Amino acid sequence: MAAPIKVAVTGAAGQIAYSLLYQIASGAVFGPNQPVYLHLLDIAPMMGVLNGVVMELADCALPLLAGVLPTANPEEAFKDVAAAFLVGSMPRKEGMERKDLLSANVRIFKEQGQALDKVARKDVKILVVGNPANTNALICSKYAPSIPRENFTAMTRLDHNRAQAQLADKLGVPVRDVKNVIIWGNHSSTQFPDASNALVNVGGINKPVPAAVNDDEYLKTTFVTTVQKRGAAVIAARKMSSALSAAKAASDHMRDWFLGTGDRWVSMGVISDGSYGTPRDVVFSFPVTVTNGKWKIVEGLTISDFAREMLDITGKELAEEKRDALEVCKD
Ligand code: NAI
Repeated sequence: MAAPIKVAVTGAAGQIAYSLLYQIASGAVFGPNQPVYLHLLDIAPMMGVLNGVVMELADCALPLLAGVLPTANPEEAFKDVAAAFLVGSMPRKEGMERKDLLSANVRIFKEQGQALDKVARKDVKILVVGNPANTNALICSKYAPSIPRENFTAMTRLDHNRAQAQLADKLGVPVRDVKNVIIWGNHSSTQFPDASNALVNVGGINKPVPAAVNDDEYLKTTFVTTVQKRGAAVIAARKMSSALSAAKAASDHMRDWFLGTGDRWVSMGVISDGSYGTPRDVVFSFPVTVTNGKWKIVEGLTISDFAREMLDITGKELAEEKRDALEVCKD
């Protein structure tokens, strides 16, 4: 059995963490031979609730759970961590403009970046889930200059999983038979779910999804908008935002980053090097593969005129969010 690694989860008293913590502590993320020591961060008023979560983790009697540290102090939470799930953020309150929300949350990620910079392992892998996830990841990285920029990522895996599930349903196949869908851009309603390079396994042979679906209009319209609006549809039905599926996506993202993707592509928000004509130095979701703990953007894909338009829209939004966030961080 390996020595335990320390793993931080922020927003640990919240609803995504409630599903995520079990997945991490049961071995679904770092593998069945990797014990974990959980560092759980939330704000001071939530310490009572967090204590209840700590009690439940103990009651799970999980063999891989080496210990739990609940805290309201980011420097305690991030001390020596090898992985950090940054889930905690301020929810949108009634009457709050998108800009106010960005402003409140960007400040949290500035402070957490500074704490990570001070006390985390320099090879820590960071996944930002809290919204606006892409821009929060960018700000967190900016304030943690001693940690490589490629170690900061944002979660678009939930959108990726949703897109894969929609295509599997459309084609009447199990979800495991569909691969290489792509989410481009921002984790927001401007994201571009793209099936043009996706493959479906039919009788052991990989067939392009566009040919199998044979309905270009569906792939450009209903498919795109269904994935873009899925979060709102879940809220309308459940009266609460996606949590089970968000936690599963966070697990998938971190597991693939640590353990590799094999021959599949996955979507990750990563720092843009300008690939595919996207704005540089924003956290943009690309198709990536992971080997030996390093992600790499899939190269050489053909971008249609339709895709170009969609990539430009979401890239523009990210550039604007970056500008607004940097403005907030000045004071
Ligand atoms: P929640 O409201 O149930 O939990 C959030 C937790 O974060 C609360 O316990 C709160 O006290 C805590 N928190 C607030 N400020 C904090 C700080 N400075 N440090 C540490 N903890 C802090 O929310 P839920 O449902 O767990 O969602 C969390 C975030 O994830 C939200 O921003 C949500 O929009 C986002 N999200 C992102 C998705 C993605 O695909 N990227 C999908 C679903 C949700």
